[in-house]
Amino acid sequence: MDRLAACPHHAAPHAHRSLEYTGDPRTGEASISAAIDFDTTGHNDEQRNRLPFTAPWLLAPMEGVTEPCFRDVVLGRNAATELGGAFTEFVRVSEVPTPPHVLRRHLGPQRFDAPVGLQLMGSDLAKLAATAQSAVECGAPLVDLNFGCPAKGAIRGCAGSALLKDPAAVERVVRAVARALPATPVSAKIRAGYDDASQIEALARAVEAGGAALLTVHCRTRAEAYRPGVDWKRIARAVAAVSIPVCGNGSVATHADLQRMRDETGCAFVMVGRGALADPWIFSGTRVSRAEAARFLLDYADAMRTRAQFPAGGILARLKQLFRHWTAGGLFAEHERRAWLQQSDGAALLARLERDSHG
Ligand SMILES: Cc1cc2nc3c(=O)[nH]c(=O)nc-3n(C[C@H](O)[C@H](O)[C@H](O)COP(=O)(O)O)c2cc1C
Repeated sequence: MDRLAACPHHAAPHAHRSLEYTGDPRTGEASISAAIDFDTTGHNDEQRNRLPFTAPWLLAPMEGVTEPCFRDVVLGRNAATELGGAFTEFVRVSEVPTPPHVLRRHLGPQRFDAPVGLQLMGSDLAKLAATAQSAVECGAPLVDLNFGCPAKGAIRGCAGSALLKDPAAVERVVRAVARALPATPVSAKIRAGYDDASQIEALARAVEAGGAALLTVHCRTRAEAYRPGVDWKRIARAVAAVSIPVCGNGSVATHADLQRMRDETGCAFVMVGRGALADPWIFSGTRVSRAEAARFLLDYADAMRTRAQFPAGGILARLKQLFRHWTAGGLFAEHERRAWLQQSDGAALLARLERDSHG
C-alpha cells in the first residue's frame, strides 16, 4: 500500500478564515491574503495558507492553451490588480514523479507580478507529493490539484474527475500534497460532482479537511461536460459548506459577470476559462480596438515562434483555437468565424493581422 495512503484519517480541523484586501503603499497595488488559522493540526500555519493572488479574478488552467506564451500575453495586458493569477495546464503525474525540467517548462519564466500556480493531476499520493515538492523548488508559488478533468484517460487512471466519486480519496490526495508543502499553499479544483451535484458539500469539505487553502468549484458535473447552462447556486452551496476561500468557475462571459458571480454566490475569487479566450481583457474590462486585438494575436504568435515552443504548423492551430471563441475588438463578425477557422495559410493570416494591427 502507498506509504502516504496509510496516513491515519484526521477529522476536519476547525478553521478560521480572514480574507484581507490590502494595498501596497509604495506601488498602490492591491493584494489579497487569505490567512487561515487551523487550531487543531498545527501544520496549516498562516504562511502556508497565504494565497499569493494579487486580485480576485483568475485565469483558469486550460490544457493546450495556458502554456507560458499564452499566459504571458494575457498577464501582460491585465494589471496585477485586475488579473490576480493564472495556472499552468494540468501536469499529469503517473508512472514516476514528474521531472523538474518538465515542471519548469510548464511554469515558464516569471515575468509578471501575478503568480502562476502549477496544476497537478494524479492519484498516487507519494508521486504527487514528490512532484509538488519539486514544483515548489522550481518556483511554483502555489500547487493546484485537478479533480475535474473529464477525459477518459484521466478517469481510467483514477485521476481528475474520477476522484469525484469518492470524497475520502479527494481528501487523501489533498492531505498528502498539503503535508508535503509546509510553506506553500495548496488549492484544489473540483467539478460539482461526477454524475450529479448531490455530493458537492462532501467534496468541498474533503478539500478543506485535507488542508487546502483554496477550493475552486467548476459548477458543472463531469456528466455535464461543457454544456452551456450553468447553475451558480452550486458554488454558493460549496461556499456555505467550508470556511476556506472558494473560487467560483463556470461560464463567466463578461467583465460584469465576475462581480455578479461573487455577489450571487459569496465566493472570494472567480476563475475564467473560455471567456478569456473570447476576450483576454475580460479581467480589466477594457474594450479594445481591432488593432489591439490583432496585436495580441501577433504577439502570441511571436512568443511561440521566438521561444521555439511549437512547430510552425502548431502556431496556426493555436491561433485557430482562440478563433473558436474570439470576440475582442470586433476582429471578425460572427458570420466570418468559419472562414477564419478554415484559414490554412499561416503567412496570409499573419499578414492580415499585421494590417489590422495598424488600424
Ligand atoms: C481547452 C480547455 C482545456 C482545459 N484544461 C483544463 C486543465 O488543464 N485543468 C483544469 O483544471 N481545467 C481545465 N479546463 C476547464 C477550465 O479550467 C474551466 O474549469 C472550464 O472551462 C469552465 O470554465 P469556463 O466556463 O469559464 O470556460 C479546460 C477547459 C478548456 C476549455
